Amino acid sequence: METTVDFNVTKVERSKLNDLSLENIPFGKFFTDHMLEADYENGEWKNVEIKPYQPLLLEPSLAALHYGQSIFEGIKAYKFENGDAFIFRPYDNWKRFNKSAERMCMPEVPEEIFIDGMKQLIELDKNWIPAKAEHSLYIRPFMFATDPVLGVKPSLTYKFLILLSPTGPYYAEPMKIYVEEKYTRAAPGGVGFSKNAGNYGGSMMAAKEAQKLGYDQVLWTDAFEHKWLQEVGMMNVVFVINNTAVTPSLDEGTILEGVTRASVLTLLEEMGLQVEERKINIDEVIEAYKKGSLKEVFGTGTAATIAPIKELRYKDFAMKFDAWTVAPKVKGQLNNIRYGRSDDRFNWLERI
Ligand code: COI
Repeated sequence: METTVDFNVTKVERSKLNDLSLENIPFGKFFTDHMLEADYENGEWKNVEIKPYQPLLLEPSLAALHYGQSIFEGIKAYKFENGDAFIFRPYDNWKRFNKSAERMCMPEVPEEIFIDGMKQLIELDKNWIPAKAEHSLYIRPFMFATDPVLGVKPSLTYKFLILLSPTGPYYAEPMKIYVEEKYTRAAPGGVGFSKNAGNYGGSMMAAKEAQKLGYDQVLWTDAFEHKWLQEVGMMNVVFVINNTAVTPSLDEGTILEGVTRASVLTLLEEMGLQVEERKINIDEVIEAYKKGSLKEVFGTGTAATIAPIKELRYKDFAMKFDAWTVAPKVKGQLNNIRYGRSDDRFNWLERI
């Protein structure tokens, strides 16, 4: 694929940061001064621009709005105490983004735009990275189809953008999770592994119903028996059974290949736990809970970071947890790397 990348940079005259405090910022509500935008036309990426954050002017017939060719990523940048800034594992997200693109019949975004563009954009808005515990700059690359036609087929044109949003923790408290048996998020052969917008739209009904029952999110189960565990809305899930951390495997293509998931598994092994990526069903989890060997359950995700689960409910059976050892420890290890308090021994940080 031919790529013509000529970055055009237009800066704001006055930063919005002058009028905004980065204290108590809700997730995804505030955006930095600049954004990156690029267009795909005639088989190549062009018009790559960094410019002031602004609305888009779009056709109402836009293909993405009608047939859902729309994908995204979530990445974070952190600031060290000395002011240096780093992006956490952006190449892993770039690869996953292009896997999502392939599944949704969309073009790949090259490294020069996704990674180099992201770095340039963050460099420009570096002051927006909160220098505070548990805070970071959330990076949202996304791409959508822009053909103004109603025929159902892969679009020939696309837009790619990167937005930046300063953020604190998504979930401040341990979570209550409902094991979902009525709705299905993904089945083999589907799009569960891809980070496409429709996966999130399709999951909202289940989350809404769980919230009515007092739960924060659902734990998805397989489409056929509703027994085999997949992922929690917005996070992968880890069960600590005695000294073993078990997490659903990626084999069936029904769950997201989490970058935080992969990092946590590496750190858990380093901490001396046995790590198993395999099929796990709710009966095994309940049995381990009844025997006292299910020590804790937690979620992992870019937005959620590491989220301890205080209740997991299946039908009428509630498994309750009030103490966590592994989750805070692995979170501490991860944060030490992210905030530069320990060596970046796995080469996860990309300097801006
Ligand atoms: C992320 O962790 O980046 C996610 O994708 C969650 C997001 C939908 C808020």
